[in-house]
Amino acid sequence: MLHIIYIWIANSNKNKGAYLLLIYNTDCFELIKTIKTNTIDMILTDPPYGMSYVSGGRKEKHDKIANDDNLDWLDNFIKECFRVLKDNTASYFFCSYHNIDIFKRAIEKHFNVKDILVWEKNNSGMGDLTGCFAPKVEFIIFVHKGRKNIIGKRTDNIFKFKKTDNAMHPTQKPTDLCEHMIKKFSDDGDIIFDPFMGSGTTGVSAIQSGRDFIGCEIDDKYFKIANERIKKAVLKSKQINVNDLF
Ligand SMILES: C[S@@+](CC[C@H](N)C(=O)[O-])C[C@H]1O[C@@H](n2cnc3c(N)ncnc32)[C@H](O)[C@@H]1O
Repeated sequence: MLHIIYIWIANSNKNKGAYLLLIYNTDCFELIKTIKTNTIDMILTDPPYGMSYVSGGRKEKHDKIANDDNLDWLDNFIKECFRVLKDNTASYFFCSYHNIDIFKRAIEKHFNVKDILVWEKNNSGMGDLTGCFAPKVEFIIFVHKGRKNIIGKRTDNIFKFKKTDNAMHPTQKPTDLCEHMIKKFSDDGDIIFDPFMGSGTTGVSAIQSGRDFIGCEIDDKYFKIANERIKKAVLKSKQINVNDLF
């Protein structure tokens, strides 16, 4: 199993000292089995949608997403997510409307589904140009294991954040959206886990929010992109010397 480990000393005074960052270029269905029970503070992930996703209208072409042609893995995966999370934590699962019913049913077998949050983008996508309204939103299934209270001011459940240009991944999410989600329901130094990290958006957001991060990506190309993005975020946020890392 190939993995890259960074451990660094944080230089902000309220931090606990060292932060942990682990990213794996492997199959998360295998990786998650190795994680101990009740150890993760939040899962923030954007799993394959089970719809053989192909985005229209982009200049840059991307490869097909692994494990996106069926959802046979879903039940076991959700069960494992529940097992590795600590009690009294909140988590987020991005989801396309196509299979949101299947995702919700699988998730609520274990978790308390608190809401289906809406990410409202700044402009709409293509979709069926003549047979449907122009798509402008995506959905996020928001869950509790036990109970977790919101941190700071309560905001509404429609998140207005600009979409990305998907330059690095066909379903790339914005870091400011993920940071908002992380900060509202986890604490400084908590461990955020993204089993399907794609281009590493959750990792960058976790670092920028002062959280520890564990990430996994099966596709070599996306793993390399995630690795580079995360490395840059580490160096930028902590202003450390690269020679301290390798
Ligand atoms: C919907 S995309 C996530 C994109 C991400 N949110 C971003 O901003 O770049 C899902 C990712 O999961 C990866 N994937 C699919 N099956 C996997 C598995 N078994 N283990 C790890 N990664 C997997 C795919 O290669 C894909 O990059």
